[in-house]
Amino acid sequence: MQILSVANQKGGVAKTTTALSLATSLAQQGFRVLAVDMDPQENLSAGFGVELEDGDLSLFEVLARKAKLADAVVPVELPGIDALSVLPAGPRLAQAEAELLGQVGFDELLKFKLAQVADAYDYVVLDCPPSLGALTINALGASQLVVVPVQCEFFSARGVAKLMEVVELVQERRNPTLQVRLVPTLFDKRNKISKVVLSELVDAFGARVSKIAVGVDTRVREAQVHGLPVSIYAPRSRASLAYEALACEVHRTLQTQLEGRAHGQAA
Ligand SMILES: Nc1ncnc2c1ncn2[C@@H]1O[C@H](COP(=O)(O)OP(=O)(O)OP(=O)(O)O)[C@@H](O)[C@H]1O
Ligand SMILES: [Mg+2]
Repeated sequence: MQILSVANQKGGVAKTTTALSLATSLAQQGFRVLAVDMDPQENLSAGFGVELEDGDLSLFEVLARKAKLADAVVPVELPGIDALSVLPAGPRLAQAEAELLGQVGFDELLKFKLAQVADAYDYVVLDCPPSLGALTINALGASQLVVVPVQCEFFSARGVAKLMEVVELVQERRNPTLQVRLVPTLFDKRNKISKVVLSELVDAFGARVSKIAVGVDTRVREAQVHGLPVSIYAPRSRASLAYEALACEVHRTLQTQLEGRAHGQAA
């Protein structure tokens, strides 16, 4: 099982859209995928058309009330997809974040919980909230790869530098093999600022910036209104194709890392 998080403390940069689309694309390619909604706003769950009812379990009960992760997972039925599930956040997840901070080993709790379902999934995609709190730190600690959507507008690069400091701390102290991929999002090719920001990003972060930029595409918003991932709602749209290519890039990156580790062990 490979785990990737989608994180950026800045709001509205397309984290949830990216998590939703990557999870869907990987599932369309035949992988068994679990998408985890780590944001109390519950946008990822809504994007899959999943709504919690009273008494349903969620990530909140898993992290703060000792519920079994497998009991909180909801299967998602979408055309052409066999094995895609969502773990909803639960509206009380913000409260769990405050509770977690006081506990020993809080930053490894999610990793520990996910290890219990390691045989059930090929990929886990974690949609982080727009903050660098306990939930995002848990996600980074559990992941092999963090995908960072960066909106192509001024001030983006400064926020990314702050996130990269946190990523480096996690790498140093907890998770030395965590890889980073910055993904330019909401790219507007008619807008000069988009191009300037993209070249600034490449100057600052080099090969860590993905060659795949996701452009502004109205089909993304339409899909959201219908409670469907854009890859299902409009499979031939520019955004769907970009995310499909990104899913392939993510798969290749993680596969190479896995093979490298196997070689390292053999040597
Ligand atoms: N490629 C795109 N083209 C057009 N609109 C987009 C695109 N990607 C995302 N959006 C829109 O931008 C808004 C923010 O996207 P999203 O919710 O994915 O961001 P987020 O980073 O998860 O936000 P938050 O920080 O609040 O969790 C949404 O309304 C979404 O529909
Ligand atoms: Mg979001």
